[in-house]
Amino acid sequence: MGRSYLTVRVLVLTVSCLVVLEYMSLLQSAENADKIRPSIFCMLDNHGVKQTHFLQSFPRDYYTTELLGADANSSNLFLLPPSPKVAVPTLNVPVNRSTLPECPMIPPNLQGKFNVEIDEVPDFAELETMFPSLEAGGRYSPSDCRARHRVAIIVPYRDREEHLKAFLFNIHRFLQRQQSEYGIFVVEQSGKGPFNRAMLMNVGAAEALNQYTYQCFIFHDVDLMPEDDRNLYTCPIQPRHMSVSIDKFQYRLPYDEIFGGVSAMTVDQFRLVNGFSNLFWGWGGEDDDMANRLRLKKLFISRYPANIARYKMLKHGAEKANPERFKYLYSGAKRISKDGYNSLKYRKISLELKPLYTWILVELPKLKP
Ligand code: BGC
Repeated sequence: MGRSYLTVRVLVLTVSCLVVLEYMSLLQSAENADKIRPSIFCMLDNHGVKQTHFLQSFPRDYYTTELLGADANSSNLFLLPPSPKVAVPTLNVPVNRSTLPECPMIPPNLQGKFNVEIDEVPDFAELETMFPSLEAGGRYSPSDCRARHRVAIIVPYRDREEHLKAFLFNIHRFLQRQQSEYGIFVVEQSGKGPFNRAMLMNVGAAEALNQYTYQCFIFHDVDLMPEDDRNLYTCPIQPRHMSVSIDKFQYRLPYDEIFGGVSAMTVDQFRLVNGFSNLFWGWGGEDDDMANRLRLKKLFISRYPANIARYKMLKHGAEKANPERFKYLYSGAKRISKDGYNSLKYRKISLELKPLYTWILVELPKLKP
């Protein structure tokens, strides 16, 4: 009796020790995981509550109080001098539409889900005749009502002419049904070095604000085609990740805090986070860095429902991933105030108001971290 009692006690003690050891090693690995990866996947609102899927409504006159002026003149933005050969065209002052009634909150001509046309896209010359209501530079305002939002669509670009054609063919029809006032800015990186998507988006923001008092930006990959026009390209109350469900990802969100593909931010939100980092050369990470910036500034990512925010992705070859992306993600919080919109530098090689879009060709310098 005495011996078996002792055996039971020894067994209980051993099992308890094992449980405690296992628990400690779990704690240890969780801690290390946090040290290895930056905490990019946790979005909390001001009260510490997790916030991701959040359908927004936009109150009347939400954006009408503040006019945001030409940004490229701001003392914080250093533009390398444009090449002397480039004539920078100025935009016509838009027609005064203040007497028109405000457009309805829900645009009346939406179709819902529609067929994205990617196989039979007309060539550029024909496309140009298809959108007679566009102004130079691919700008549009509805003719019979005053748009509720002034939206700059910023498209980072290089060497994807077929994609650009399909994008323009689909997006103009889509946006015009939404009765937004918009301009399309295709920002092309010159040369053959690694692509810097984030820096091109900073350039697009600066150049768009230099042209007009846009209220918000939609940063848009050229290969993503929206499939449902209820996915309204409006100015968001909180930054909005638009490309929630993409065919390539089986129409599922790859992870909660993704902010790549298509995303919308107001000019104020963009300024608050100091735009995108300029240090991400090559594929990946720049959108995660922006998600971190949003969290640091107590903004959170909102989304439309996945059955509406659907996209088709055009096919393209794999791009080379940036091996340095994790390094810059770790140090993101330290760099937010000095690496971004306020440290942006570029050389503007060309700016053309084409019939379907504003084309900006730039050379991007490597900036010091
Ligand atoms: C990259 C992001 C990218 C996402 C989806 C992540 O691993 O860091 O930049 O948007 O994958 O492809």
